[in-house]
Amino acid sequence: MNRKIYLAPSILGANPLKIYDEIISMQNNFDWLHLDIMDGHFVRNLSFGPDFARALNKNFPGAFIDVHLMVDELKIILPLFINSGASLITIHAETEPQLLHAALSEIKNAGLKCGVSICPATPVENISEVLELADLILIMSVTPGFGGQKFIKSSLEKVNKLFSIRAVKNYNYLIEIDGGINESNIIDAVKSGCDVIVAGSAVFNDKNKTPAQVLINMRKNSEEALKI
Ligand code: DX5
Ligand code: ZN
Repeated sequence: MNRKIYLAPSILGANPLKIYDEIISMQNNFDWLHLDIMDGHFVRNLSFGPDFARALNKNFPGAFIDVHLMVDELKIILPLFINSGASLITIHAETEPQLLHAALSEIKNAGLKCGVSICPATPVENISEVLELADLILIMSVTPGFGGQKFIKSSLEKVNKLFSIRAVKNYNYLIEIDGGINESNIIDAVKSGCDVIVAGSAVFNDKNKTPAQVLINMRKNSEEALKI
């Protein structure tokens, strides 16, 4: 399989008062926009609502909006995002495991791509039932809730496992990694089998480089990693 790497800057890492300008400034350098939705309950933080996703979609038509739901009340919150301009919605396996299959189907039936995510403490085995249905598996490489945390290296073992399962079973999901990714460890992430790379603080909080410059370096390093 010819692998393509998708770079997905996490809007949570941007200066909230400059999000529009920051997206414009890196528009030729990203593939997806990663949007974290937090409810103050599943994680101890609050972020964006469906109107924000709608505004992104309106202002950046054609942009692939990768919504990462970190919420408990899936029955209430998922419908809010189904028609919000999201291209893909990822839900957490830890949220309401009994709803996982139904919620993924709901997303798919609405014509969107669906993803499932696991926290660092959750094993890949917990989602084996939905691997066939999912368009994307998101491996959290930090405890969800905040940007700027340190990358948990053992998450790459899960990436590796998912990469092998996909080959053996002929599944179609993309493998995404989120949390603590920077210009250097992107190499290991790609070598381990990641297709989609989320990065927040590395892209938006570099004192010496613009987001576009960081993404250019990430692209270069990921392409090198594919050759190894
Ligand atoms: C954390 C979020 C991430 C976060 C990544 O809960 O899911 O998307 O924005 O930020 P960095 O790259 O700074 O770890
Ligand atoms: Zn995220």
